Amino acid sequence: MEGKEALRLLPWPVTLIGTCHEGRHNLMTASWVMQVSFRPPLVMVALAPERYTYEILTRNGEFAISILAADQMEIANFCGTHSGREVDKVKALGLKTKAATQIQVPLLEDCVANLECCLVSLHPAGDHVICVGEVVEGSVELKEASPLILLNWQPGVICR
Ligand SMILES: Cc1cc2nc3c(=O)[nH]c(=O)nc-3n(C[C@H](O)[C@H](O)[C@H](O)COP(=O)(O)O)c2cc1C
Repeated sequence: MEGKEALRLLPWPVTLIGTCHEGRHNLMTASWVMQVSFRPPLVMVALAPERYTYEILTRNGEFAISILAADQMEIANFCGTHSGREVDKVKALGLKTKAATQIQVPLLEDCVANLECCLVSLHPAGDHVICVGEVVEGSVELKEASPLILLNWQPGVICR
């Protein structure tokens, strides 16, 4: 069965999921992210329940999705291999942030785009939980940058 190999040929976006707890901003890399409705605009992110991000997101009900640019794989690797339980990833990477307009979670200044989301439902799915959020605001940040994608675990790019 070539299921594993075939699954890796699904292109994945590379995003950071931002959450905030008692003023502490955390970022986690997530590729299992997609739009699931136009009206209202809904997106989903599949989170393993052991993630610090899952704990905070389900407590606060707000999250930001930052779409990373083609040259930001190092940021994705760092935020995808360290937990906010042990490391302040924003500080460690020296990332620039700014206030969001509709949620309490800060946004990343340098990324392709930011989506501000409010959690609307949770759906257990195998070893992950699908977290559905309504997009309450969005902003395009780097106007010329192309989004980073992963194909067969290799970084690639979608040109705008
Ligand atoms: C490229 C990449 C994509 C990832 N996608 C997801 C994902 O969609 N869902 C998930 O639960 N974890 C995903 N991870 C793993 C988390 O980012 C990783 O466990 C992270 O350290 C969790 O951080 P936290 O404990 O601060 O929430 C991904 C990691 C990488 C490197």
